[in-house]
Amino acid sequence: MISILKRLSVPFLLLALAAQFTQAAEHPGYLVDPERRTTGIGKFYMGREISFVMGHLAADWLNRPGRIMEEMPDEVVANMNLAPDEVVADIGAGSGYFSFRIAGKVSDGEVLAVDIQQEMLDLIVQRQADGKGGNIRTILGAIDDPRLPENSIDAAIMVDAYHEFSHPFEMMDGVYRALKPGGRVFLLEYRGEDASVPIRPLHKMTQEQAILEMAVVGLEWSETLDFLPWQHMMIFTKPK
Ligand SMILES: C[S@@+](CC[C@H](N)C(=O)[O-])C[C@H]1O[C@@H](n2cnc3c(N)ncnc32)[C@H](O)[C@@H]1O
Repeated sequence: MISILKRLSVPFLLLALAAQFTQAAEHPGYLVDPERRTTGIGKFYMGREISFVMGHLAADWLNRPGRIMEEMPDEVVANMNLAPDEVVADIGAGSGYFSFRIAGKVSDGEVLAVDIQQEMLDLIVQRQADGKGGNIRTILGAIDDPRLPENSIDAAIMVDAYHEFSHPFEMMDGVYRALKPGGRVFLLEYRGEDASVPIRPLHKMTQEQAILEMAVVGLEWSETLDFLPWQHMMIFTKPK
């Protein structure tokens, strides 16, 4: 925790501390400024402009064959080091690209696939009809609430999704409450520090920014695995 605090600038540290002690409906780190808008929704969180949500009509893109090389999903899931009985929330699950892979690793546990688009969750249910992923439960979340019971999950993963959350503070507050003490958060985002990563800027995040935003709700940065071609795999922990 000390190392994280050393990284925080004073204004951001004050915001983080304020969040610990207030139940603000709107986090003070939010700013809506249409004049500063670039390609996102014109709402900023701790200086980062939030991107638009990827619509369900583009779901095929999530299953493109090239993604295996670009995002190495099986290696990502292997690096989550899941125990067979764990409960894992896949937040912003989309069509279940990661949910089904995780489901195979938690044969005695469960995957809670959360998304705000019912059409995405319907794609997961359709795939389950083939007999796979029987331990995946879909949950229709709200833009500001993952709708997970408190103290119910061992881990949460968000792949290429967090930068789309229009209410990142409320979402992460909900994830934090849902985690058991010692629970882990796996945050995968395209590397914002790397101009050679061929992704639009608002669909990327720097590690520094991610650590700041997770610290607001009390998540501690544990490590970042940088084995992926274009993404950070950042791991955060809820203190015990
Ligand atoms: C780019 S897709 C990624 C899907 C999936 N994680 C994957 O890697 O294939 C992002 C998903 O996040 C979802 N999303 C956006 N905001 C959300 C929120 N507040 N809560 C839950 N899901 C959200 C979108 O509906 C979309 O399905």
